[in-house]
Amino acid sequence: MNLVLLGPPGAGKGTQAKLLEDSRSLVKLSTGDMLRAAVAAGTELGRKAGEIMERGALVPDELVINLIAERIDQGGGKGYIFDGFPRTIAQAEALDTLFKQRGKTLDRVVVMEVDDEALVERIAGRFACAKCGEGYHDLYKLPKVEGVCDACGSTEFVRRKDDNEETVRARLKAYHAQTEPLIDYYRRQGKVNAVDGMADIAAVADEIERALAGGSVKEAKKRAKTPG
Ligand code: AP5
Ligand code: MG
Repeated sequence: MNLVLLGPPGAGKGTQAKLLEDSRSLVKLSTGDMLRAAVAAGTELGRKAGEIMERGALVPDELVINLIAERIDQGGGKGYIFDGFPRTIAQAEALDTLFKQRGKTLDRVVVMEVDDEALVERIAGRFACAKCGEGYHDLYKLPKVEGVCDACGSTEFVRRKDDNEETVRARLKAYHAQTEPLIDYYRRQGKVNAVDGMADIAAVADEIERALAGGSVKEAKKRAKTPG
């Protein structure tokens, strides 16, 4: 199964992608993670992308499409979970083409619906293990033992550079202008399931599992959106 998790910054895409990776033996492909790795490694791509990410704008399509094309040729698991990709119509079309050329299908697009107001709080509280990347939140998901990563035992944690209020607002604006149109793009393909991203993490995971188990569910109910 190949699926896309679509939603605004802080919707919980990374959190749910990690859970699905474990529960369904899928491989998570997060363009945000790949770009941050390129920035940390100081590659040419990282130099191009870093400044754009700090502004909260989208990195040029060509760069992220190349990243994804390389990764899906490396194969993996029982399919892919795309986290943060595609983010523009051009990226969605490129993914359709890449899959078609490889005889693969995109099965489902899970749209995570969240109130804009809740996102800033979510993002501002987020941190991750510096060693293994396990994600945490100051209010909603603290390590079981204070200061020690549940997953790997490391005691070092990091916060993202683009997780400040001003940049979050720019990221939200980019989402509404450039990424939200993908919901209709995929709705036309009959692949959309919407889930309530405001529920707690385990409840969202359950709702996603139910949506994926639903087999032939074709359309998501259209829900009211907070205007951007
Ligand atoms: P990217 O890394 O993809 O960031 P994003 O889309 O802005 O989303 P986030 O990672 O901030 O949020 P998330 O939905 O993963 O939420 P999370 O699970 O962490 O992209 C960063 C930048 O890279 C972009 O701005 C752009 O510049 C560039 N980029 C990336 N891909 C690109 C592309 N395809 N094209 C062009 N440019 C691209 O959850 C957030 C927090 O909330 C966590 O602390 C979590 O623990 C907590 N949480 C999660 N779920 C819940 C819940 N249900 N209840 C309470 N708390 C929760
Ligand atoms: Mg993420």
